[in-house]
Amino acid sequence: MLVRIALKRAGWCALLLGLALASPLRAAEKDADPDDAPKAKGVSFLSMTLEDKEAAVDRVEQGKMSKDGANTCVGCHDEEFKFPVFPLFKTKHAVKADPRSPFGQDNAQCEACHGPGNAHAKAKKKDKRSGNIINFGKDAWTPVKDQNEKCLTCHQNHQRIQWKGSSHEFSEVACASCHKIHVAKDPVLDRQAQADVCFTCHANEKAKFQQASHHPVREGKMACSECHNVHGENGSGLMVKASAREKCTSCHAEKRGPFLWEHAPAAEDCGLCHSPHGSNQAALLKKRPPQLCQECHSPLAAHPTVAYDGSKLPNSMFLGAKGCLNCHSAVHGSNHPSGVTQLR
Ligand code: HEC
Ligand code: HEC
Ligand code: HEC
Ligand code: HEC
Ligand code: HEC
Ligand code: HEC
Ligand code: HEC
Ligand code: HEC
Ligand code: HEC
Ligand code: HEC
Repeated sequence: MLVRIALKRAGWCALLLGLALASPLRAAEKDADPDDAPKAKGVSFLSMTLEDKEAAVDRVEQGKMSKDGANTCVGCHDEEFKFPVFPLFKTKHAVKADPRSPFGQDNAQCEACHGPGNAHAKAKKKDKRSGNIINFGKDAWTPVKDQNEKCLTCHQNHQRIQWKGSSHEFSEVACASCHKIHVAKDPVLDRQAQADVCFTCHANEKAKFQQASHHPVREGKMACSECHNVHGENGSGLMVKASAREKCTSCHAEKRGPFLWEHAPAAEDCGLCHSPHGSNQAALLKKRPPQLCQECHSPLAAHPTVAYDGSKLPNSMFLGAKGCLNCHSAVHGSNHPSGVTQLR
């Protein structure tokens, strides 16, 4: 900047000089780039450090409650306000007769979740988003841990007790990343709409459910939460393998057994042969028989005379149509007295 002003004053003589020095001149200009100057604007919450945020949470918690509770808030956050607050009044959170609800008698109403709001209500408009009231969701200034604690003050019951240590807690997923509070019907609690909430983060699973064979989730007949406990389970993930089989057989009871003649893998883990979300093989199979079976059964062990690779006997009943299943149809186990090799 300074360099350019100096050059202007020195007239066209210096302009020639300027051309000759073109590149150092540009370098000098860059050094004086106004973007490098400290910002005049106020510090936005986006640039707050984690310590700033924690300190702000403490300030809010120690602050005063607003004078008239929800009436203070809806004085500004009314029907005209860009974020629709009012549908909340159609939900369980606004049931006045329920003493546990934020709107139960003597409870803190809006501030039960958002924390004391006097400072926020009185703040200048430009400071409304500077960390003076608890906010929710993954883009909010409030650290996820502190957001979730607000919800857990009321929801630390038996269903939620395993939240601590679950994958979603460990990965700092906010309650509010799944739950919408200010809508009449929370989509994640709706079987038809739930999967789309999950797919915002789990794109791989979305692709799986598009495959030819799939559990009817995208048809809206089944929810992810019918297999997964999203709030955590047994402290070791959202669905441990051992309990997965129990989940499967809670719907597919005929596969539960016990069978007179078990097929070892089916007694252990359905996931050894099926991919639970989707597959391009029939019946959610990971591979098509005979390859599926030959993952475990050596070609030499059972039917040693058969060309298991398919190259020599393309029409063999061992390999064609349903392959091994042509004869071994009771692949999940058999109760037939002579079903030892799962032929019936
Ligand atoms: C004097 C008007 C006024 C009052 C009273 C008021 N708010 Fe606000 N509130 C605002 C404005 C303006 C914003 C900023 C909106 C924006 O910038 O998009 C805001 C933002 C918020 C936010 C987002 C804050 C953030 O940091 O992201 C929450 C949550 C909120 N208000 C809740 C409340 C609650 C709860 C109360 C009652 C305790 C309340 N407000 C009272 C005007 C008000
Ligand atoms: C049960 C907890 C809870 C209660 C009670 C509650 N809120 Fe909220 N509020 C939330 C959550 C969670 C969000 C984030 C958006 C969502 O999930 O719907 C939110 C979002 C907001 C926002 C939008 C902030 C933004 O980023 O723009 C405003 C404004 C707000 N609430 C005001 C209120 C007011 C006013 C009341 C009382 C009438 C109230 N809230 C009661 C949980 C609550
Ligand atoms: C002041 C206590 C309180 C706070 C704080 C609170 N809730 Fe609730 N919540 C309740 C009560 C009471 C119910 C109704 C329970 C029932 O009917 O069994 C409820 C119900 C729910 C439901 C089920 C709604 C339905 O339609 O079945 C969800 C989901 C929920 N809360 C999530 C949240 C989240 C997320 C937060 C934090 C943003 C939160 N709650 C904060 C008291 C609270
Ligand atoms: C990964 C998405 C997800 C997250 C994160 C999540 N929830 Fe849920 N929540 C669900 C789903 C799905 C259901 C319905 C199925 C169920 O009950 O398991 C539900 C149901 C609920 C219910 C109502 C049903 C009941 O059992 O009473 C409450 C209350 C609730 N959640 C609170 C919370 C709280 C509090 C948090 C944060 C600590 C949280 N949720 C985090 C997805 C989520
Ligand atoms: C029929 C039961 C079932 C349904 C329905 C289901 N899942 Fe799963 N899901 C499973 C099983 C079983 C596993 C464990 C797979 C494994 O360990 O290989 C799993 C694993 C996962 C994983 C971990 C993936 C990984 O590779 O570790 C995610 C994420 C997941 N499921 C999300 C979802 C979502 C999102 C939905 C709904 C759109 C859903 N699931 C519906 C049974 C189900
Ligand atoms: C805000 C993002 C987000 C949303 C929304 C979300 N998840 Fe997750 N989920 C994660 C993260 C992060 C992990 C841990 C890392 C991973 O395994 O990808 C995870 C892990 C999982 C796992 C694997 C657990 C394990 O132990 O391996 C399952 C199952 C799962 N989520 C199911 C769901 C279901 C069902 C929903 C919808 C009700 C959902 N998630 C919504 C972010 C999310
Ligand atoms: C909540 C009930 C439920 C649970 C739990 C469940 N399923 Fe299913 N399963 C279904 C329904 C419904 C269908 C679809 C039936 C239909 O379309 O006629 C299905 C279909 C299937 C199919 C056949 C798919 C096809 O394309 O023919 C297989 C294989 C299967 N499930 C395996 C499993 C496994 C493995 C698990 C455990 C990870 C499991 N199921 C858990 C309800 C369930
Ligand atoms: C050894 C591999 C294997 C294991 C392990 C296995 N399955 Fe299967 N499953 C198959 C094969 C192969 C088919 C296709 C059968 C056919 O086409 O006739 C099938 C088909 C199914 C079907 C759809 C057709 C039907 O018979 O209703 C369901 C449902 C099913 N399995 C559930 C389960 C459940 C639940 C488990 C765990 C208890 C399980 N499977 C374990 C191989 C297996
Ligand atoms: C994950 C590995 C695995 C897969 C995949 C598998 N099996 Fe098995 N299978 C076993 C084990 C382990 C045994 C028990 C062997 C024993 O007891 O000596 C067994 C036993 C059998 C038996 C009875 C053998 C006997 O001596 O009692 C038959 C028949 C059989 N499997 C057929 C099949 C067919 C058909 C398929 C494909 C649909 C298949 N298996 C897929 C592991 C597998
Ligand atoms: C044409 C019918 C047929 C087909 C197809 C077939 N099997 Fe068999 N399999 C049998 C019969 C019959 C027995 C019982 C033999 C006996 O008891 O000695 C048997 C026995 C077995 C055994 C137990 C062997 C033992 O040592 O006890 C295994 C394992 C087996 N088959 C695996 C397979 C696999 C894997 C395939 C697919 C590649 C397959 N079978 C295809 C008829 C068939």
